[in-house]
Amino acid sequence: MAVKFPITVTTTTQTRLHDVDFSNIPFGKVISDHMFIVDYDGTQWVNPRIEPFQRFDISPANLALHYGQSIFEGMKASKRNGEPVLFRPELHARRLNVSAERMCMPQLPEELFMQGLQMLVDLDRDWIPEKEDHSLYIRPLMFATDEYFGVHASEKYRFLIFTGPVGPYYPKPVKLWVEEVFTRAAQGGVGEAKCAGNYGASLLPAMRAKKAGYDQVMWMDATEKKYVQEVGTMNLFFVIDGKVVTPATTGTILRGVTRDAFVALLKDWGYVVEDRLLSIAEIADAYWRGALQECFGAGTAAVVSHVSDITWRDRKLELPPVDAQHRPIGTRLKTYINRLRMGLEEDKHGWLHSCDNSGVWELVQGGEEVGIPA
Ligand code: COI
Repeated sequence: MAVKFPITVTTTTQTRLHDVDFSNIPFGKVISDHMFIVDYDGTQWVNPRIEPFQRFDISPANLALHYGQSIFEGMKASKRNGEPVLFRPELHARRLNVSAERMCMPQLPEELFMQGLQMLVDLDRDWIPEKEDHSLYIRPLMFATDEYFGVHASEKYRFLIFTGPVGPYYPKPVKLWVEEVFTRAAQGGVGEAKCAGNYGASLLPAMRAKKAGYDQVMWMDATEKKYVQEVGTMNLFFVIDGKVVTPATTGTILRGVTRDAFVALLKDWGYVVEDRLLSIAEIADAYWRGALQECFGAGTAAVVSHVSDITWRDRKLELPPVDAQHRPIGTRLKTYINRLRMGLEEDKHGWLHSCDNSGVWELVQGGEEVGIPA
């Protein structure tokens, strides 16, 4: 690591680790002992620190609460030969800054993101579950902290990272509703940013779909309501006539880190991968002629979530049963990623990043406060 920041560390005196039932971890409900925090004072990042996870005060006039300057990331750590490893963390650091730019927020130095992250995961390494399909979910986020409520870009911000052990996000294949009334994002909007508002706006359509018996909505493009975008919390993949097709990232959908890994793996394995516009009519047509072989969502939280059926208006497209024989590609990807994270596959692409902090802890214990330019 080129730069080392003086991150002060205060460890908890009361770990909550022993209160956790690791055999039953609902996604998002269990939070590890510590968090990393750094504040932006209007000109630079100051006071990087690791503290026990705890509440902090927020003014009712906090700008993020009013106008939504709030962005986040989702990533995972696992253990390889007993040591914590992160999956492509530098891509998450980079994407956070892409979201920050779109939301008029300051850039966070990638080295600071990486050092805070590595130290935090190293410190809470005992929280990393070692069971298959389980991992330590990592939630970096940045939000505005100005406390006056005229509409403006905040001058001050807070960045933090906390973590929590998780099991599978979608325990069973998902039923999808093709959404043609609500849209997720239009060209020129914020669909590509991982900002809080994108998720807030998805909740009503998702709830309506749930009431009608579906798990999630499949978003269509905002202009023609014709082209498939993404689903709930994931990018989408379809296997049509033996080729793998994933909707192109043309500015309205998230540039998924898992999506990117899957495209690379599929190419390594000799599949034809098409990253292009894909209409719902083409998918339905493939289904009717028996050429739609698989459909799955891909994301950090979900890894691979098979789709059991897709309902488009009054037509229900039912996919083959979920097993390795009928869904070989999605199943192979999921197994590979899970095995890679546990060190059971060779890391050919160099996607795993160790949390080796040699030299960092000595430097940071009791470090002085310094300013870090954005
Ligand atoms: C992820 O896949 O990590 C996400 O960010 C989706 C979600 C849990 C919000």
